[in-house]
Amino acid sequence: MTPDPQVPILQVEQVVHAYGGTPVLRGVDLTIRAGEIYALLGPNGAGKTTLIRAICGRLKPSGGRVRLAGGDPQAEPAVRACLGLAPQELALYAHLTVRENLEVFASLSGLKRAEVAPAVEAAMAVTRTADRAHVPVRHLSGGYQRRVNIAAAVLHHPRLLILDEPTVGVDINAREAVDAVIRALAEQGVAVLLITHDLEQAGGLATRVGFLSEGRKVLEGEPAALIADAFGEHVEVLVVVAADLAAHEEERVRALGLERGRATDVWTCLADDGYAAAARLDKALKAVGLPAREIRVRQPSLQNLFSLISEDRRAA
Ligand SMILES: Nc1ncnc2c1ncn2[C@@H]1O[C@H](COP(=O)(O)OP(=O)(O)O)[C@@H](O)[C@H]1O
Ligand SMILES: [Mg+2]
Repeated sequence: MTPDPQVPILQVEQVVHAYGGTPVLRGVDLTIRAGEIYALLGPNGAGKTTLIRAICGRLKPSGGRVRLAGGDPQAEPAVRACLGLAPQELALYAHLTVRENLEVFASLSGLKRAEVAPAVEAAMAVTRTADRAHVPVRHLSGGYQRRVNIAAAVLHHPRLLILDEPTVGVDINAREAVDAVIRALAEQGVAVLLITHDLEQAGGLATRVGFLSEGRKVLEGEPAALIADAFGEHVEVLVVVAADLAAHEEERVRALGLERGRATDVWTCLADDGYAAAARLDKALKAVGLPAREIRVRQPSLQNLFSLISEDRRAA
């Protein structure tokens, strides 16, 4: 199949699905083109996995349609071959080496004998795992295992690569190595659909993000543009205070307009006068006997945007 650059690799149109009468996807559209990294975000139960199953042709949606490279992934095996899936649960043989694993998956993916060795070398090169070719997968670090999992998904040169939570449970350095692999694949022209809970990763990596909530896409766009639209000139002020506050002390912090951040000792708020707000908070915290250990001002992130959407939806 010769790729037509005009045709998006993935076109999801008004896809609807219900499990036993309970609607899970309520009319989802999604278009992804070559070289894009699209991050699909959303809380548990939003319908992300169901959508992926429909894209992979493993589930026939109750309504709407999925087009992969212009064809129907449900009906046409050749169309399904355009797709690579790196599942959230590692799908590797723990006792086999990296190369042995990839040889097995290359054969399973239908490559001809003569194509297997070059495909394995190429997959190890792009995922930077060649230096562990002879190591059994069970002896690898979590980050390497994640990259081998991606290598297994790209052996047949898919045009769309779907990554389901590719960095769950790995540390920041390993995550950055996985991010570099995703970027390298996108530069080769692969379209990447990334499912992640890691908003920091999505913000740094994705060319576009979409938020799925209760089976609907509630927001979509380039991360920087979405943040600018939602927050304008506002910045986020982060305040670090003592970690073990008593309930009445927490109340005092909240009374200053701060909300708990990601760590127990970090509190945040949004302000349109960044450094002045930081100075005000510094003074106010001292006045209530809870001096800040650190105060930082930064651009709002996808995390802020996500909180905003969740609050809006709870309020609605
Ligand atoms: N096979 C199934 N049968 C019935 N309900 C399901 C099935 N799979 C998922 N669900 C339900 O559909 C909703 C969406 O699930 P899912 O697509 O897994 O969301 P996500 O991946 O975003 O967490 C959830 O409420 C889930 O309980
Ligand atoms: Mg899921």
